[in-house]
Amino acid sequence: MKEIEEVRIEFEEKIKKLKPEDLKKLETYFLGRKGKVAYLFELLRNIPAKEKRETGQQINELKEYIENRILQYKQLFEEEEQQEKLLKESIDITVPGLKSEFGYLHILSMVIKEIEEIFLSMGFDIMTGPEIESDYYNFEALNIPEFHPARDLQDTFYLSQKLLLRTQTSPIQVRTMEVQKPPIRIIAIGKCYRRDASDSSHSPIFHQIEGLVVDKNVSFANLKGTLLEFTRQMFGKDTKVRFSPSYFPFVEPGAETAISCVICKGKGCRVCKQSGWLEMGGSGMVHPNVLKNVDIDPEKFQGFAFGWGIERIAMIKYSIPDIRMFLQNDLRFLEQFK
Ligand code: DAH
Repeated sequence: MKEIEEVRIEFEEKIKKLKPEDLKKLETYFLGRKGKVAYLFELLRNIPAKEKRETGQQINELKEYIENRILQYKQLFEEEEQQEKLLKESIDITVPGLKSEFGYLHILSMVIKEIEEIFLSMGFDIMTGPEIESDYYNFEALNIPEFHPARDLQDTFYLSQKLLLRTQTSPIQVRTMEVQKPPIRIIAIGKCYRRDASDSSHSPIFHQIEGLVVDKNVSFANLKGTLLEFTRQMFGKDTKVRFSPSYFPFVEPGAETAISCVICKGKGCRVCKQSGWLEMGGSGMVHPNVLKNVDIDPEKFQGFAFGWGIERIAMIKYSIPDIRMFLQNDLRFLEQFK
C-alpha cells in the first residue's frame, strides 16, 4: 500500500525538523483521531479481504514506530529543558559578591556632632528638653510677656491652651537652671517649630543650638570669647564675630550676632548680600528676671546665653543654598555629604 510508505516518509521529514513546541501538533497530526494513521485504517476498509490482515499489520507497525519515535523526542526535549534550567540556575561561586551599602549620617546630624564636639572640648555639657513645651517654659519663664508677638497664634503651633511645639531652644535654659545650680555651662541642640511659610531660608521645622553659662563674674567678654572660639573652630580661624544691639526679652543687654562672610571674607558678595556679614542668631546677658524665676540670685551670679540656627551654620559651612533641601530626602543631595 503506497499510502503507508507516503505517511512514513512524511513523518520522517517532519520529525527531522521538529521543535519542542511543535511536538504536540505533530502527535495529533499523525496519531490523532483524525490523523494520518487513522486515515490509513480507514483506507483499509476498501481493500480486498485477503490483503487486509497484512496491510493492517503494516499500519500497526507504522503506528507503533511513530509512537516510539515521538516518545523518544519527548524525552530528549525534556532532558534538554532540564539541562537548560540547571545551567540558568547554577551559581557561579567565583563572581564577586554585591557589596552591601552602609548607612551614613544626615548632613544635619553630622553638623550637630561637629558642634557638640567643639563645645565639649571647651568644657560644656549637653542638655536636652522636650519638643512639646508648656507655655510657661517657652515664654513665661523667659520673661516674654503676654503681649509679645512671638506668642501670636500666627507664629506658634499651639497644641492646647497651655501646650505648644517649642519655638526656640531657650526653654532648655530654664529647665537646666531648675535642676542645676551655678556654675552652669551647657549647650542644647534640638528641633524648633514655627508657623513660617517655607522659602529658601524658612522652614516650619528647624534646629537651634542654645548656649548658657551662669557663674560668678561672667561678663559679655566671656560671651564674645566663647562665640569667637566656636566660630573659628567651625568656620576657620580668620572668621570674625560681630555683635550689634538687639532686643530679646530674656537677655539684657541683647545682641544680634553675625560672622564675617566665609565666602568673600567680608568684602561683600551675593551670599552676604554685599554686607560682608552673615547673621547667625541672638545672644546676650541672662536677664535678672529669668534668674529670679529659677531662684538664682542675680546679685551673685551672672550668665550669658546665645541661640544660633543649626541649618544656618550648615548652609554656610557647606554652601547649601536652600533650607528645604535638608528635609527633601533627595539622595543626590544627601550623598554629597557621605
Ligand atoms: N531664642 C531666640 C530666638 O529663637 C534666640 C536667642 C536670642 C537665644 C538671644 C538666646 C539669646 O539664648 O540670648 O529667636
